[in-house]
Amino acid sequence: MADNEDTTRRGTMEEIVALCKRRGFIFPSSEIYGGLSSAWDYGPLGVELKNRLERFWWREMTQLHDGIVGLDASILMHPKVWEASGHVESFADLMVEDTVTNERFRWDHLSDEQRESKTSPAGNPLSEPKAFNLMFDTHLGPVKDTGSVVYLRPETAQGIYVNFKNVVQTSRVRIPFGIAQVGKAFRNEIVTKNFVFRTCEFEQMEMQYFVHPSEDEKWFEFWKEQRMSYYSKLGIRPERLRFQQHGPDELAHYAKDAYDIEFEFPFGWRELEGIHNRTDFDLRRHSEFSGKDLRYLDDTNNERYLPYIIETSAGLTRSVLMALSDAYEDQEVGENDRRVVLKFHPEIAPVTVGVFPLVKKDGLSELAQEIERKLRRRFSTFYDQSGAIGRRYRRQDEIGTPFCLTIDYETKENQTVTLRFRDSMEQIRVPVSELSNRLEEEIENYTRS
Ligand code: GAP
Repeated sequence: MADNEDTTRRGTMEEIVALCKRRGFIFPSSEIYGGLSSAWDYGPLGVELKNRLERFWWREMTQLHDGIVGLDASILMHPKVWEASGHVESFADLMVEDTVTNERFRWDHLSDEQRESKTSPAGNPLSEPKAFNLMFDTHLGPVKDTGSVVYLRPETAQGIYVNFKNVVQTSRVRIPFGIAQVGKAFRNEIVTKNFVFRTCEFEQMEMQYFVHPSEDEKWFEFWKEQRMSYYSKLGIRPERLRFQQHGPDELAHYAKDAYDIEFEFPFGWRELEGIHNRTDFDLRRHSEFSGKDLRYLDDTNNERYLPYIIETSAGLTRSVLMALSDAYEDQEVGENDRRVVLKFHPEIAPVTVGVFPLVKKDGLSELAQEIERKLRRRFSTFYDQSGAIGRRYRRQDEIGTPFCLTIDYETKENQTVTLRFRDSMEQIRVPVSELSNRLEEEIENYTRS
């Protein structure tokens, strides 16, 4: 798979999974017990990447956007929420089972031929398709009876809808406005082999934008455009992103119109984020089921109405896989040499600056540590004094560190250091006194080469 030039290629899924394990981004869950299928743990670098992606989204959606406030609702909610939302009734996939291996498949994931002949990918007979509810249930309290059943939320969105009135009454927000939330969601899905792409436990970054019903289409277009441009701010290659509109038979039970933003993963184009016009479906249903009036009062003209909701719903854990697969390059550097480099945007790179003394002796270690300690107040740093300098650069390339500094004998003479750029591998000298500001500027003006 050649990219911008034929000496550089994308990583395969096998390479990405191997690098994640080797460098501490993502580990199989409970690995010492043989792992738990489809569950993954984020290691020291993975958690930094995931947290930074979350912060980037949060900042874009709340701090840099007028009229969007945050929320953190609980995972367990009143079971009636899921009756009102329609998840108890219709949140089901049609499933079939390979009658020999007992492997389960989603009916809509099989080919036309497999569906017609009712044979599994292994060529065995399939069971009849059956609806299978994706919600995990459990019981609250010591007695397990039908009255104690609760669900692990399958989307974060409902926590926002049931708090709509609380937020309006306490935050002085006026329509149009949004409520943003990041959190865990759970679906008892048939999990395919694509690493963290689809898991039973995952994280979502959702924003619900409440608008006047007459303005739903305008805001739907607005959010489509905003969400696509968000990914370019993150430095994701535009040619790996596209919109895909849901056909009438694909629309979720709540949606009037829906677009996916798809990303070209190494295994093909897949959904990254959904943008949905949910109409007044959710607030109407919660009004009916709770008996509470959830209409909004516009105090400029005394109009009372149920707002329409435009939803932007992105997967955080799926975004981690997007960031990794977009960043991974296997590149020819010089003659007969290659490097693996993760070209993360500096805002999401787990380490922003690597700091190295050229050698350990002659006071260079102490000087480098002093510089690193100053920089760590503003940047995420990593100090490394072991091995040849070229190998230290490569180790940082492989985890996506955008900048490295080398402290050498010249530093002692004229208080300058070598600043080395990950993408171009260019090296320049920068005065120690200017380092912080220079790095801030480089992050601000970053474009991937
Ligand atoms: N509230 C609307 C909603 O949940 P969705 O299209 O079902 O819509 C939104 O999910 C996003 O959540 C998806 O685009 C995807 O990024 C992420 N997502 C959904 N199911 C997932 C799973 N099983 N594993 C990882 N991410 C998932």
